[in-house]
Amino acid sequence: MTSAAPRTPTAAARLSALIEDELAAALTPLAREGAATFGVDRLVESMRYSLRTPGKRIRPLLLLAVAETLGTPAARLVRFAAGLEMIHAYSLIHDDLPAMDDDDLRRGLPTNHVVYGDGMAILAGDALLTEAFVVMLDPVVEARLQARVIQEIARAAGREGMVGGQAADLMADSVHRGAHTKAVDRVSPPPDAAAARGDAVAAIRGDTPAPDVALLQAIHARKTGALLRVAARAGGLLAGASDADLECLTTFGTRFGLAFQIADDIKDETAPTSVTGKREGGDRLSGKLTYPALFGVAQSLILLREEFEAAVVALSSLSRDASLVIQVADEAVAPALRSAGA
Ligand code: IPE
Ligand code: IPE
Ligand code: MG
Ligand code: MG
Ligand code: MG
Repeated sequence: MTSAAPRTPTAAARLSALIEDELAAALTPLAREGAATFGVDRLVESMRYSLRTPGKRIRPLLLLAVAETLGTPAARLVRFAAGLEMIHAYSLIHDDLPAMDDDDLRRGLPTNHVVYGDGMAILAGDALLTEAFVVMLDPVVEARLQARVIQEIARAAGREGMVGGQAADLMADSVHRGAHTKAVDRVSPPPDAAAARGDAVAAIRGDTPAPDVALLQAIHARKTGALLRVAARAGGLLAGASDADLECLTTFGTRFGLAFQIADDIKDETAPTSVTGKREGGDRLSGKLTYPALFGVAQSLILLREEFEAAVVALSSLSRDASLVIQVADEAVAPALRSAGA
């Protein structure tokens, strides 16, 4: 997507291998036996099922790529990276539940609740979220800094970020389908959402967002963007980034976070199951509020490119060569461009 050449073609692969090793070693069986662990084996199997199936690992990759870029060896922070992936894995399990997106297919395999049942899937999600904090609390940097980073991650994952965004997504579905026309009033627009009218495409670039546009951006920024943004920031904070570098990483994470969900929306509309590992055209069939639903595929691609380019531009002010971070980000959105024929 960009012309930036990767600094070292094997660096991203090395980070991926570190992450896979850590995830493979995670969730060891409990030391106790018998009645004390009744049910836990099945729970852990269900957790592993969703944690170990192959995903892009973009959140841990971003954290480690940023940290290495700023001079901190990735191996030191790999538990942190695994914690982020656990939060993500939990979010996917719950996202797929019948009460949420009701999806049967994830990463080319039956979704967690299809294999383990709704109840166990809910619990596997709960336990992955909890476990994430267990692993992120392993001491790796100065205690106060580590507490600050963990608090940021918790906030990005919770009501202010991902879960809040999922709640908005849930309500917007009904709004989009016209089921609860009042619900839109209860979903807060982003603080800078200025106006309630205007051409949708012009609005997203200008200062007069139409309600659906502002709502869609706010949902995407929170349900997906928040965790990606905090992955970049956490990598920076843990590596002792300067304020200026942290600002670059924040802008990068914000713009890339939105780009990533636009790419996800585009792939859902245009890519086959063999590429996404998910139900083909699921968003359209469910009447979800997405970029292609609002703008069409061609315009969504333009908006994706704009967000991605803005993310890369933000990194150009970083004090170090950011090509490893760019490479990782690029590989995460490139399939959306290919599937849409761009
Ligand atoms: C899917 O996330 C859900 C979103 C937040 C868009 P990913 O696209 O990162 O899914 P995996 O982990 O690669 O399967
Ligand atoms: C999910 O967004 C965002 C999460 C926080 C899990 P989607 O519902 O679009 O993700 P997919 O398409 O099911 O992976
Ligand atoms: Mg969803
Ligand atoms: Mg979904
Ligand atoms: Mg999706």
